[in-house]
Amino acid sequence: MADRDNLLSVKDLIIRFQLRQGALTAVNRVSFDLAKGERLGLVGESGAGKSVTGFGILNLISKPGRITHGSIRFEGRELTQMSEEEMRRIRGNRISMIFQDPMMTLNPVLTIGTQMVETLLAHKPISRREATEIALDRINRVSISSPQKRLEQYPHEFSGGMRQRIVIAIALLTSPALIIADEPTTALDVTIQADILELLLHLCDTEKTGLILITHDLAVVSQVTERIAVMYAGTIVETGATGQIIRNPQHPYTQGLLAALPQNVPAGGRLKQIPGVMPGPSRIPAGCPFNTRCALCEEVCRTVQPPLEPKQAGCLAACHLLN
Ligand SMILES: Nc1ncnc2c1ncn2[C@@H]1O[C@H](COP(=O)(O)OP(=O)(O)O)[C@@H](O)[C@H]1O
Ligand SMILES: [Mg+2]
Repeated sequence: MADRDNLLSVKDLIIRFQLRQGALTAVNRVSFDLAKGERLGLVGESGAGKSVTGFGILNLISKPGRITHGSIRFEGRELTQMSEEEMRRIRGNRISMIFQDPMMTLNPVLTIGTQMVETLLAHKPISRREATEIALDRINRVSISSPQKRLEQYPHEFSGGMRQRIVIAIALLTSPALIIADEPTTALDVTIQADILELLLHLCDTEKTGLILITHDLAVVSQVTERIAVMYAGTIVETGATGQIIRNPQHPYTQGLLAALPQNVPAGGRLKQIPGVMPGPSRIPAGCPFNTRCALCEEVCRTVQPPLEPKQAGCLAACHLLN
């Protein structure tokens, strides 16, 4: 039985791409839960399967990709069984998505106001006037001045940071229960990144909106999320409370990611990158997917894939060598 307070429950999700050379498993038995209003960071190196997981939740995997196994329950309903029509009613309404590039969301030839009002009218039985009021309110909430004037402008009239603020305003339009933000600040200057993250945190907190923040940057998730799931080669290798994972990482991969953060390198020291590269979906080794890069690798790690299970430190981790 699903917990009644659960907003989202992903269970044993497998997403595969059927290519001519064979099938690739990009997401391999991923499971996690999100409570109402909770913020989860999905973190890991490029190619780990983070975006595919995010798109999978919205049933936006396009051919040759497909969810081949597992369940995605959202607000008590099974998303994997829904028709495209039903899914459309959920996307941009109950679940909003924010991408790295604001222009994935914004239409360059329409004013911000038109885009916001049309989005609302597509999802809510309200008048154009009411929709305009809501649009003004959301522009206000993302701390953009002169909202009335802003609604009449086109996307190119805004800076990158401002555009991402507008995308957040659009994501909030329908008061969704969940926002999936995929590398929302990766393309922005570091100084602006912090402001945008602060804003996202503040809004999700005050509106009790659930957030899945997808990023390769552990520093970014630690700033905004309450829980972290670390992905490696299509699987979750460690998950737990953000503070705990940052202070006391258990999985050798998480330890490596943390040691590689510039702020954790002692003055004058060198960046400690994890040796080697993450295997792509066609090259994932037998046993533990991290075994090719793990300094602690033992025989069992080469033959048996470790399950994600509770460890003494209080997290869940997929590692044979942890108690
Ligand atoms: N359209 C596609 N066709 C084939 N393989 C894909 C496609 N999209 C993603 N993949 C595979 O899935 C893996 C995970 O991708 P992705 O979720 O985008 O990684 P990231 O963690 O960087 O967001 C990639 O390494 C790639 O091999
Ligand atoms: Mg990605």
